[in-house]
Amino acid sequence: MSILVCGGAGYIGSHMVKRLVEQGQDVVVADNLSTGHKKAINPKAKLYQGDIRDRAFLDQIFINEDITAVVHFAAFSIVPESMSEPLKYFDNNTGGMITLLEAMRDFGVKYIVFSSTAATYGVPEHMPIKETDPQNPINPYGLSKLMMEHMMAWADQAYGIKFVALRYFNVAGAAPDGTIGEDHGPETHLVPIILQVAQGKRKELSIFGDDYDTPDGTNVRDYVHVMDLADAHILALKYLKENNKSNAFNLGSSTGFSNKQMLEAAREVTGKEIPAKIADRRPGDPDSLIAASDKARSVLGWKPQFDDVHDIIATAWKWHSTHPKGYDDRN
Ligand code: UFG
Repeated sequence: MSILVCGGAGYIGSHMVKRLVEQGQDVVVADNLSTGHKKAINPKAKLYQGDIRDRAFLDQIFINEDITAVVHFAAFSIVPESMSEPLKYFDNNTGGMITLLEAMRDFGVKYIVFSSTAATYGVPEHMPIKETDPQNPINPYGLSKLMMEHMMAWADQAYGIKFVALRYFNVAGAAPDGTIGEDHGPETHLVPIILQVAQGKRKELSIFGDDYDTPDGTNVRDYVHVMDLADAHILALKYLKENNKSNAFNLGSSTGFSNKQMLEAAREVTGKEIPAKIADRRPGDPDSLIAASDKARSVLGWKPQFDDVHDIIATAWKWHSTHPKGYDDRN
């Protein structure tokens, strides 16, 4: 009996694979390696290299392996890119989900844990954001994921495929043992960019806007450690196997940190100066995004271990400082 991790070579997926392997689970990874890294996959997991939009590729996995549940990370996730290339997002993310659910239906696989996102909420009406708040995404990325949530709900009703949608806020950090971490090309996320400046790989950090409606004028985000996120997926699998109903949960720390606060924390962790300047706003950034995450804590029993951004940044710094070229597998 195996868990299929779609996108298991990516940043979050690879940490999930590591956690599953540590728990003694048999893990099968499906990844087209378009953004992921072979070296990120725990050697105890079995890789099928291919695209989840390819039905024959999925059939081969479901025929060869005894898959009991799917954890689905395989998607594009860069908000600004989704604004300029929306169809790429609907094709890969939303389209990929159609093929995956069809294959699950045909092979009788009844459980899926899905990477959803705070971006499905759009500009929130309340803070912190609750799972029951309106979902009105303001970018194609968020909409592609919301459509995937809706598809799973209808697939549950029609075919009895149970799902848990985990709506991530801002994921950061790396495996505390320093073996795997974040390596995107190009990098767009705040924490790795700050650390690249600390490493001298970039001249300075551009802080996108300091005139937002927040205490120091810079955007406020809710940071959650990637291993805590992986643990939430493990709990979601358990929740589904206990015959609970399909559900959605926010995953965040319920505490907001501004971009300036994140920079300051990184200066403290690294002991580096980390030059920074204020730049123009980046389109599509809401002022603040903070999760109400008590539902995941009470229903799933989720207890995040990293409740301080310094600790989160320290694990990322361990990865970046020991792997200055990331996985070093790009041409
Ligand atoms: N930022 C900068 N400078 C940079 C990079 C980022 O100031 O060089 C700022 C952004 O403007 C934003 C904050 O840092 O205010 C965080 O930006 P990230 O790009 O790290 O993360 P986002 O909040 O944009 O996106 C994350 C996930 C998305 C998800 C979204 C939900 O990466 O997948 O949260 O809101 F959709």
